[in-house]
Amino acid sequence: MAAIEMKHIIKKYGDGFPAVNDVSIDIADGEFVILVGPSGCGKSTLLRMIVGLEDITDGDMIINGQRVNEKAPRDRNLSMVFQNYALYPHLTVYENIAFPLRLSKTPDADIDKRVREASTLLELDDHLERKPANLSGGQRQRVAMGRAIVRQADAFLFDEPLSNLDAKLRGQMRTEISRLQRRLGITTVYVTHDQTEAMTLGDRVAVMKKGILQQIASPRELYEQPVNLFVAGFIGSPPMNFLPAEVRGDGKLQTPLGPIALTTDLQRQAVQGHDVLLMGVRPEAFEDAKLVDPDKRDKGDVFNAQVDVTEWLGNEQYAYIPFEASAEIRDQLRDLSRELDSDQLRTQLIIAIDSTSRIRAGRTADIWVDTRRMHLFDPKTGVNLTRDEQAGARLTAEVEEERREEMEEARNMPLGEAPDVQGSSSGDGSVGARDGAGSRSSGTQEAGSRRV
Ligand SMILES: Nc1ncnc2c1ncn2[C@@H]1O[C@H](COP(=O)(O)OP(=O)(O)OP(=O)(O)O)[C@@H](O)[C@H]1O
Ligand SMILES: [Mg+2]
Repeated sequence: MAAIEMKHIIKKYGDGFPAVNDVSIDIADGEFVILVGPSGCGKSTLLRMIVGLEDITDGDMIINGQRVNEKAPRDRNLSMVFQNYALYPHLTVYENIAFPLRLSKTPDADIDKRVREASTLLELDDHLERKPANLSGGQRQRVAMGRAIVRQADAFLFDEPLSNLDAKLRGQMRTEISRLQRRLGITTVYVTHDQTEAMTLGDRVAVMKKGILQQIASPRELYEQPVNLFVAGFIGSPPMNFLPAEVRGDGKLQTPLGPIALTTDLQRQAVQGHDVLLMGVRPEAFEDAKLVDPDKRDKGDVFNAQVDVTEWLGNEQYAYIPFEASAEIRDQLRDLSRELDSDQLRTQLIIAIDSTSRIRAGRTADIWVDTRRMHLFDPKTGVNLTRDEQAGARLTAEVEEERREEMEEARNMPLGEAPDVQGSSSGDGSVGARDGAGSRSSGTQEAGSRRV
């Protein structure tokens, strides 16, 4: 088990360009942290510096209280699972999992015990004698994880481990990784450029852009209280809508949709000193005005708009509403969508409306917007002027609490189909789930005896 602290980490490659620029992140023992951001933002570089595969130009990498900048990868006792699983094709599943233990000359009986524990946990018992070529992508993924598990590493590091899999399998593996991480209680850092993966897996998500950490918070905090335009646009699918908004004297904003009232104190404070702002509203903050409860209706504003396209998906419905924006705003949205690796930010509104709504394409409709959920961004700096820091912190604290509870539950729960491994945590360093979770919550430091 390990806590990982990164302090002002900088990485400059040969050309002097900072691929990672002054990143500081504290990862708690047992925490699941995701590094996410567009291609080239420095995620893999940061991960490789944690493991020791890449030199650190400046800053401190601290694992379990010890600075490890100069330590070789094998002395850091971390386990990395790559995108291509690097399995040995000529070895059976059993031998692939056992590989690191053979390398470290672990006695056969120990190897057998640990491999079988891991394979049970990963539901690979029926495949131990097969070769990797005869396995599905998901099974191969699990073998790679099995290898990481038997090493009894202090932390798991994943670099886009699911990007080779099809969408369905990716979903399944996501659930499995998440379940496994909870059971083992092993500190995990996971790199992905997929915001859905980031949102569903992590306790906290670190959003990076061009080597710089933008925000690290629970998925919910990122979603509801993003620090800036970049995080707001990156997190959420379909993405947040951005509209130019002129500040009027009467407590309203002039938008391409019409005047919209400022409803919260934060919003009224945010507009001080600004003429033009960028308004951000998530698709689900809109509704077909006909379907809004009368008592809820005055919590927001209604505008009339021409609907371009509707998409009815059974359980939900989207409507697309184009709007006019100045050239300046269009440029800004274009830049932002380039930064986000996304072509979704256009000068059209995407709104999520009730699936029973009869709003139809090509007609005008009254649309209600929950103005309490409107964010206002400084168009020059991208800073979210309406961010409620305390509300955000509460959202992340809740997740921390949930994680502790879940770990506790996992510790008290039988391992699904797997046999009870409680008896195996007898101080021999075996990596039974209860062993993992137990050592973490009781704070006993078994790491030393777990070294491979
Ligand atoms: N060995 C290297 N030498 C020089 N520059 C490098 C090297 N490796 C990466 N870079 C540069 O550092 C930056 C960060 O790269 P990194 O691989 O960390 O990005 P990433 O966020 O993992 O992207 P992706 O999602 O595409 O994997 C990029 O601009 C990349 O071109
Ligand atoms: Mg990468």
